Amino acid sequence: MSIKEEITRRRTFAIISHPDAGKTTLTEKFLLYGGAVQEAGSVTARKKQRASTSDWMEMERKRGISITSTVLQFEYNGYKINLLDTPGHEDFSEDTYRILTAVDAVVMVIDAAKGIEAQTRKLFEVCRKRNIPIFTFMNKLDRPTREPLELLDELENVLKIGAYPINWPLGTGMDFKGVFDRLNKEVHLFERAVGGVFKAPVSIMDLKDPFVSERLSESTHKTVLEEIEMLDIAGEEFHPERVFSGEITPVFFGSAMNNFGVQLLLDNFLKYSLPPGSFTSLKGETILPEDEAFSGFIFKIQANMDPRHRDRIAFLRVCSGKFVRNINVTNASTGKKIRLSNAHSVFGQQRETVDEAFPGDIVGLIGNSNFGIGDTLTENEAIVYKAIPQFAPEHFIYLNNPDTSNYKRFRDGLEQLLQEGVVQSFQLKNNYREVTVLGAVGPLQFEVVQYRLKSEYNAESVSEPTQWSLMRWVSPAIDESELTNHVLPVGAVLAGDNKGRNVILFTSEWSLQHFMDKHPKIIISDTPFEELEAAKV
Ligand code: G4P
Repeated sequence: MSIKEEITRRRTFAIISHPDAGKTTLTEKFLLYGGAVQEAGSVTARKKQRASTSDWMEMERKRGISITSTVLQFEYNGYKINLLDTPGHEDFSEDTYRILTAVDAVVMVIDAAKGIEAQTRKLFEVCRKRNIPIFTFMNKLDRPTREPLELLDELENVLKIGAYPINWPLGTGMDFKGVFDRLNKEVHLFERAVGGVFKAPVSIMDLKDPFVSERLSESTHKTVLEEIEMLDIAGEEFHPERVFSGEITPVFFGSAMNNFGVQLLLDNFLKYSLPPGSFTSLKGETILPEDEAFSGFIFKIQANMDPRHRDRIAFLRVCSGKFVRNINVTNASTGKKIRLSNAHSVFGQQRETVDEAFPGDIVGLIGNSNFGIGDTLTENEAIVYKAIPQFAPEHFIYLNNPDTSNYKRFRDGLEQLLQEGVVQSFQLKNNYREVTVLGAVGPLQFEVVQYRLKSEYNAESVSEPTQWSLMRWVSPAIDESELTNHVLPVGAVLAGDNKGRNVILFTSEWSLQHFMDKHPKIIISDTPFEELEAAKV
């Protein structure tokens, strides 16, 4: 197969949702279609099995959250699908955002009884910025839900995205009888059976067909007819290009648990999403996937994923060319030349050596401690990809080591977790002693740090609150001498981030605003300045 053919058959995406909407269940059903798992329940079972064999997973289990992410690759109908799992906890986590920089599309799962929830909205905003196709799956139609039209309105009003329902529910809750595929004019009937049953869809001329009316109650039939008429007259029109550009989201109704509507979603997803596309380099050049030189970037680093191995995996998204085992590349961020010999595909806990990979694929590079998040690895040294966005933390703690005899373990563990980007670190300046402050966008990250320090490095730690709640990067054009304690508001401090860039930590929104009003020439930002520059290219 040519590289072009390999690219065309690839799809790389993530599922985003608020916890409990059904992401794990849907993932599992996708894998069933791909033949990647043999029986329903195995992903959940694996989730539980992992939970019992690792301390860290124990935290996941207790909190009912998924902290780790894995990459799932499977084949379906000639397509090669890379599904990137995103952590599903309610806390805002930078990790999820980094993963979303490596995908070309997302499936957004919504619990149809609840509608759009906080985490869905945040994750959606990130995807929106990248203009990638977004597919919506309204889940749990087997139970009472909100009105389908109301759910569509919410997509349009809250998320401000046009919604086009590809299929439409025939009744809801106990009255749910199936869906009507609007593009193909087919009815898919729902039967309550454990694990779902496959039934061939039935083509109909229109919804007045007796095949439909006989199966629905009179009132449900009337409602469905009115709804479909309304959608046809007043709704969005379906243009695939508008899906490709992320302007409209195709909407599917179904029940992941009952395996209903999942295949419709998967087939349409493959039809209306795009194969891996081009990436823009820092210099503004367009790097096409079929370009000869191999290139990719590291979007995630994870240590100790498997407690038995105790190693470190850097996840690389292939952007252009072909990856082959033992390929010689340059780390464009450090200029170092490296041979990539230890490359794996990581499917949950299983690992397999990767001999070749194509744009859209994710490769797990094991054992190289010099890689950092956002590093570009390439055969063409001229290619450097833009940095992965960094977010200004809103929670800050001091993290101390109460037991000086294990200081080294504490230091090494913390260093590793900082390299993974679990939290950010800041060194206070103008201070009589060296003080490190940790910052995170969501406070759960601190718990993750403490838990992992203990379970993976056997290092105790004690956290102490700080007075800060906001942080801003200072323009590199501003000389440090201008940022004395006299200039900063009461309680605010100057610090350096892990790259030595100046930042100011503020105690409140009010204090930040006051500072900005008083010193308009001191330019500050909630994004690092190099990122702002790169965004202009
Ligand atoms: P998440 O990964 O988004 O957090 O959600 P997950 O798939 O774990 O699903 C959350 C709960 O919702 C699970 O129930 C799951 O069985 C249920 N669920 C998923 N899809 C459907 C659906 O289509 N209909 C209904 N009625 N329920 C659905 P649980 O009780 O938390 O776990 P379990 O014991 O069933 O595994």
